[in-house]
Amino acid sequence: MPKPKYAIAVLISGGGSNFIAIHKAIQNGLFDGEIVFVLSSTEKAGGLKYATENEIPHFTPTADVFMSEQKFANYLLEKTTDYNVQLVVLAGFLKKIPAAFISDFSGKIINIHPALLPSFGGKGMYGRHVHQAVLDYGCKISGATVHLVNSGYDTGPPIIQKSVQVFVDDTPEILAQRVLKIEHEILPQAVAAFAEDKVIINGRKIYIG
Ligand code: GAR
Repeated sequence: MPKPKYAIAVLISGGGSNFIAIHKAIQNGLFDGEIVFVLSSTEKAGGLKYATENEIPHFTPTADVFMSEQKFANYLLEKTTDYNVQLVVLAGFLKKIPAAFISDFSGKIINIHPALLPSFGGKGMYGRHVHQAVLDYGCKISGATVHLVNSGYDTGPPIIQKSVQVFVDDTPEILAQRVLKIEHEILPQAVAAFAEDKVIINGRKIYIG
C-alpha cells in the first residue's frame, strides 16, 4: 500500500499567496504532501478561489465559532482529526489560535511572520503595520520568520528566518512585496522539513537536520 501523503491544513485570512506557494511547491515535487483543507476566517479571502479551482476542501467557520475560544478549539480539533492532519500552517491567518488547541497539537502548528522576530511582532503587528513600523524605525534590514506557534503572539521559536534589505525610498507596500517573495521560499521549505521529518526541536532551539 502506498504511504499516505503528509497531510497539511492551511489557515488563511487574506490573499492566500503563501498557501498557493505551498501548493505549488508540492505540485513541483519539493516534498510529498497534500493540503487536505484550507480554513479561512473570512469568505472574502482571495485564496478561497484558488482552493475551489484546485479542488481543495475549504471551510469558513461562522462568526460565532470565532467568538468562543472553546468553540473554535473544538472546531479545529474536529476538522484536523477528520482529515488526519499532521501539520497546521498559519499563512496570514489573523485570528488567535486557542491555547487548548495549541496544547493538543503541540509542536505541529507553524506561522509565517513578515519580519525578523522577535522584532516587530506581537498583538496588532500584521501585514502593512509590520512594514510601516520597520520603516518608521529606520531599519536597514527586515525579513520573514517561520516559527512554531505557542500560546503567545509571535513568541514561538524560529524555524527558518531570511532577511531582505530595506531601501530609503521603500514604502510599506514595496517592502511587503520584497518580504512576501522570501516568505514564498521559506514557508514551503519549512513545511517540507516537517514532511520529511527533518525538524529537530530542542526547547527553543530548532534545527533542520
Ligand atoms: C503575509 O505577509 C504574512 O506574513 C502576514 O500576512 C501576509 C499574508 O499574505 N502575516 C502576518 O502579518 C501575521 N502576523 P498571504 O495571504 O498572501 O499569504
